[in-house]
Amino acid sequence: MKKDLIDILDLSTGEIDELIATAEDIIANPDAYAEKCARKKLATLFYEPSTRTRLSFESAMYELGGHVIGFSDATNSSVSKGESVADTAKTVNCFADIIAMRHPKEGAPYVASLNCSIPVINAGDGGHNHPTQTLTDLLTIHREMGRFEGLTVGCCGDLKFGRTVHSLLAAMSRYAGVRFVLISPEELRIPEHVRTEILDKQGIEYSEVRSLEEAMPQLDILYMTRVQRERFASEEEYLRLKDSYILTPEKLLTAKADMRILHPLPRVNEISVGVDADERAAYFRQVHNGKYIRMALILKLLENNAKGAKKSTLPPEETLRRDLKCSHGRCITGIEQELPHIFRLTDGEDGVYRCIYCDTKA
Ligand code: CP
Repeated sequence: MKKDLIDILDLSTGEIDELIATAEDIIANPDAYAEKCARKKLATLFYEPSTRTRLSFESAMYELGGHVIGFSDATNSSVSKGESVADTAKTVNCFADIIAMRHPKEGAPYVASLNCSIPVINAGDGGHNHPTQTLTDLLTIHREMGRFEGLTVGCCGDLKFGRTVHSLLAAMSRYAGVRFVLISPEELRIPEHVRTEILDKQGIEYSEVRSLEEAMPQLDILYMTRVQRERFASEEEYLRLKDSYILTPEKLLTAKADMRILHPLPRVNEISVGVDADERAAYFRQVHNGKYIRMALILKLLENNAKGAKKSTLPPEETLRRDLKCSHGRCITGIEQELPHIFRLTDGEDGVYRCIYCDTKA
């Protein structure tokens, strides 16, 4: 296992299964874990708002007997004076044992991981990745369905900016017989790099549809997402798309009796509160699971770091290009002038270079 968790693909299937088994053991035997992180400190560096991710990380560390430092609003830190992500990471490295970072710019946690010796966990970077939400989703699917193999997973809503969907597709693609139904308006389809690098590359069966009603009867999991106002360049475009899908009790009439509804939350109005009483609604159980899987992850990363786990590094120099500029508006290079623009040659895509921070194609 690597030192850091930046992308869900940093974990092998065996490592994910091990984290799920540890989380299950913590749920069954919480007292056995109450002092496992005594005298250890978690730094939560949240440059963007959060309720579930930050509070579940902090609860996780407290329940392991550890301490928490950090900020939930970067304007109260020296970030407001212009301090870079790299310098912040080098500073926090002096005080904490592990970092959980959320940032609106894509690639920021990766930059932090390149600049410190303690483990860095990506707690969500822009519309890019959110691997601990995916671990939460996987634990929930495992607890609710008892398996991953052979499931038909419908992802509905904002598949373009929905970072949780990108990480979930990457993780679930590894299990045999999983197929996806991608339900979104044309404007919010999954990004091209997710389609080519994750689904097409592995020959995963998937379809892209516009109608939730049409997809419903075939689904084992319905993963709803919010249309993310904060990622839109235009308010008018957000208002036009925000109510594309609203799940109601009536729409569930054609769903399987044992289907499960997940949502990373927060919801706005894409699941009516009338659905909450349905036993298939698993989204608040999913929130609870988030604490246990993050406890398992903190334990594992601290243990690995003590054993000298592999630090994040740049890809091999011969696969890099340093003469290209990333123009993606949400890339960390857009706000950090000193950060070098670097592109890597991708696996499985002939001659295609992608930004090492945000994965945007050159
Ligand atoms: N699911 C999730 O990331 O929620 P928060 O934004 O509240 O952390």
